[in-house]
Amino acid sequence: MKKNKFYVTTPIYYVNDVPHIGHAYTTIAADILARYNRLKGKDVFFLTGTDEHGQKVDKAAQEKGKSPKEHADILVENFKALWVKLNITNDAFIRTTDSEHKERVQAVLQELWDKGEIEKRSYSGWYCTPDERFWTEKDLVDGNCPECNRPVEQIHEENYFFLMSKYQDKLIKHIENNPSFILPETRRNEVLGFLNNNELGDLCISRPKSRLSWGITLPFDEVFVTYVWFDALLNYYTGPIYLSDTDKPWWPAEHHLVGKDILTTHAVYWSTMLMARGWELPKNIFAHGWWTVDGQKMSKSIGNVVDPNKIVDEYGLDAFRYFLFREVTFGLDGNFSEEALAKRTNSDLANDIGNLLSRTLTMIDKYRGGSVPAPVNGKDRNDLEIKIKQWFDKNYTGNISRSYDSFLEGLHFNNALSELWKIMAEINEYIAASVPWKEEDDETLSNILYTLAESLRIIAIYLYPFMPDTAGNIWKQLGLDTDINSIKIDETSNWGGLKPGTRVQKGEALFPRIDLKKKFKKEKTMDNTVGVHGDAPEKDNLISINDFAKVELKIGIVLEAEPVEKSNKLLKLQVDTGEKRQIVAGIAKAYTPEELTGKKVVVVTNLKPAKLMGVESNGMLLAATDSEGVLSILIPEKDINPGASIR
Ligand code: ME8
Ligand code: MG
Repeated sequence: MKKNKFYVTTPIYYVNDVPHIGHAYTTIAADILARYNRLKGKDVFFLTGTDEHGQKVDKAAQEKGKSPKEHADILVENFKALWVKLNITNDAFIRTTDSEHKERVQAVLQELWDKGEIEKRSYSGWYCTPDERFWTEKDLVDGNCPECNRPVEQIHEENYFFLMSKYQDKLIKHIENNPSFILPETRRNEVLGFLNNNELGDLCISRPKSRLSWGITLPFDEVFVTYVWFDALLNYYTGPIYLSDTDKPWWPAEHHLVGKDILTTHAVYWSTMLMARGWELPKNIFAHGWWTVDGQKMSKSIGNVVDPNKIVDEYGLDAFRYFLFREVTFGLDGNFSEEALAKRTNSDLANDIGNLLSRTLTMIDKYRGGSVPAPVNGKDRNDLEIKIKQWFDKNYTGNISRSYDSFLEGLHFNNALSELWKIMAEINEYIAASVPWKEEDDETLSNILYTLAESLRIIAIYLYPFMPDTAGNIWKQLGLDTDINSIKIDETSNWGGLKPGTRVQKGEALFPRIDLKKKFKKEKTMDNTVGVHGDAPEKDNLISINDFAKVELKIGIVLEAEPVEKSNKLLKLQVDTGEKRQIVAGIAKAYTPEELTGKKVVVVTNLKPAKLMGVESNGMLLAATDSEGVLSILIPEKDINPGASIR
């Protein structure tokens, strides 16, 4: 096995989906990890691709009068082009219609068949054609598909089953013994809870060609094709074999990054498939959260699907990459809004980093003729300067390289970014405290200017995985002529790497400011109308501030959610508001338990306990309902800690 290797994957996306910010999110996350690990000097293999078999592609192709493959050949370009646009450095792109993939899937099927891991059985069940999934009677909701709510049809047929059930105990043990196998922890607990409380069935892995022909033929029975997931999951194994240019094995993957929607297929189907085959399991499966847009689920019918191409054209690529990973904790759900993106671009990017670079270079131009001065030992201006140098000093325990590394190893992307921004804030403070434009001592001034330029150089290295263009731009403006794409972090991130005498090249602002007023004018006017009505409430509705102060409101995080038996309105939630409490909320028609888990919410914490349908409730979740019956829970705008009080 390779020693110093790093293999990361994204899901292979359905080729007929229109790529949106959700797909961009997972792929950029993988790109950040791939770039960081290359910086660390590892051999990296980053795989993404498309899932091209199955009913939906077949049907869409028929409607267009094309063969499924011709149709997929056109659609795949949407993904390929987007990855170029988003600066994605995938090492390979797998398509499940590649003949090399298909052959290997058949070989695995044959092997599992020969080993007795697959069995033919007659079967009857309810089939949801659009979702290509079987359901049992008890899964159905009002006789319809529990996932998409569409009608299902009863089907009796012979099919092949992968004997998944016999691996249930082994899988439970593996998850228990490997705490980072499934992350985040809440998702790991969900999978364990599911496995501990349900009997795992066997997995139907075939479809008769009479019903679906667009797939990989079973090598031991020509009348069938294999189930789309069985074919798709194997991409992680087949891809590096025929798409990488080294003969050393990449498997097992360090990370499979997926959305929470497909955690079960990865944690359960894929893991047991690997066990049956006797292969090692991946080191980690990370299920990230779900993006909504302006508080709503993205859907074609609502027409709110966000095209990353448009966002990038309007706000710039790195603002987009930065926003996605700064705004929400990787693992929790997030809400996308252009206004929030624009605000962050102005404050964090144009102001914090943009101004810092431009001020630094302006001063070097003005006071040192554009040449980086030599630092002078013992001329530290103040405590802030000492602190800044410590951050970048590898011998100091609080230095940035250690915390950054552990954040990225744990996929805590937003923490890594906040850490960098904390440092930038202190550097900006340092400029204010040092007042370089009034400094009369030449050596002291040289020292300040060197400290600023050198800090920026090292910050650029840490920004690189997230914002490669911006990092390269800072690099160039600092006058560095090495290619930032090929540097190694260990060699370049030590304090003192910037050579005195380097000629800086001040260029355009890193991030032009966005005129928020002009851009979001429409929304603002609407807000004002609401304000006008709100400003003149009925007199006898008024309460005193003391009345309001009696209500204790806190931020909570939903740890678990489940339906209340015999109720179609109530959900039972376990919420951490600084302390764990159970709350029953009447929101089951608007939210599924999965959607709520991990969400931060607003809770009234000093309500008298009550019983709803016999279930104890301690507190109340705040939610709003409008005249059209849309119900929305309230969530904090920033990633704030549970237990925070609302005043
Ligand atoms: O499921 N928020 O493909 P898919 C966050 N072909 N991530 C999102 C998202 C959202 N709103 N919408 C989509 C498939 N994603 C299978 C996978 S893998 C062997 C086979 C991302 O096109 C997220 O990564 O439906 C999610 O898991 C994936 O797209 C689903 O892509
Ligand atoms: Mg999907």
